[in-house]
Amino acid sequence: MALPSSLHSYWTEMARRKAIRAATGSEAHYEDGRYYDQAYRRRRHDVRFYTELAVHSGGPVLELGAGTGRVALAIGKAGIEVVGVEPMAPMLARACERRDKLPRAARDRIELRSGTVERLRLRRSFPLVIAPFNVWMHLYTREDIERGFATVRHHLEPTGRFVFDVLLPDPSSLAREPSRRYLGGRVPHPRDGSRYRYSEYFSYDPFSQIETVMMDFEHPDDDRLSFCTPLTQRQFFPAELEALLHYNGFAIESHTGDFKGAAISAATESQVVVARLR
Ligand SMILES: C[S@@+](CC[C@H](N)C(=O)[O-])C[C@H]1O[C@@H](n2cnc3c(N)ncnc32)[C@H](O)[C@@H]1O
Repeated sequence: MALPSSLHSYWTEMARRKAIRAATGSEAHYEDGRYYDQAYRRRRHDVRFYTELAVHSGGPVLELGAGTGRVALAIGKAGIEVVGVEPMAPMLARACERRDKLPRAARDRIELRSGTVERLRLRRSFPLVIAPFNVWMHLYTREDIERGFATVRHHLEPTGRFVFDVLLPDPSSLAREPSRRYLGGRVPHPRDGSRYRYSEYFSYDPFSQIETVMMDFEHPDDDRLSFCTPLTQRQFFPAELEALLHYNGFAIESHTGDFKGAAISAATESQVVVARLR
């Protein structure tokens, strides 16, 4: 039975908006590897966690969504072979640039290549597959999430571990008024060194569970240099994430509220999952 035309055009419009949001929000934020490195330079606790896991596994390690090599380079430097896969050309280029400055022995342990979580198929398997720092939040539909899990199953050794972290949805944050501006102070931008006035706007679609953060950079003197960058993230509620893992062939070894094993609570920022094939 055909949908009434008004309903049909409503759903077509919703699908179009969802596709635009998903496409722009997973790309714009990753178009400048230098900015990414500057913005997250203080984030080190997760690097330590993933590097220790990598050393414990003995390697090789597969990192899905390797970005600028924040984690992959640390793993290579710790003496473990790592393959980092990243779809965004500017992020991958930055990762290669940083890797190529390392001493030869570390450099040779780090392979970086283009690819996505959904499609990657290498002819090798790994005792450890990782997806650090919200990579899974860029899988916007159930089909993409299932493709991502299939990729992990394809590359994981039978007793291997899949470890990743995603934000814990914050109900008060998701209920924010989309037109309200949240001021974040002044930030230097590597694009031109100016100190931009930074602010954020949040909007959340409760049906797709996708939140879009509009990052607004206002130039101090010249408005033509002001710009806005969207970041779109699919939210995973903990029980839902456990169900997704279970029904996609994984057993959960631990599901914690930080990188040191704390229980998930209202104060949790990142949920950290260690899973195995079941
Ligand atoms: C927040 S960054 C994390 C990067 C890196 N893992 C780290 O810890 O710094 C998320 C990364 O996921 C990548 N990404 C987005 N969609 C992806 C996909 N479908 N497959 C693989 N990576 C993806 C982005 O390009 C970005 O580099």
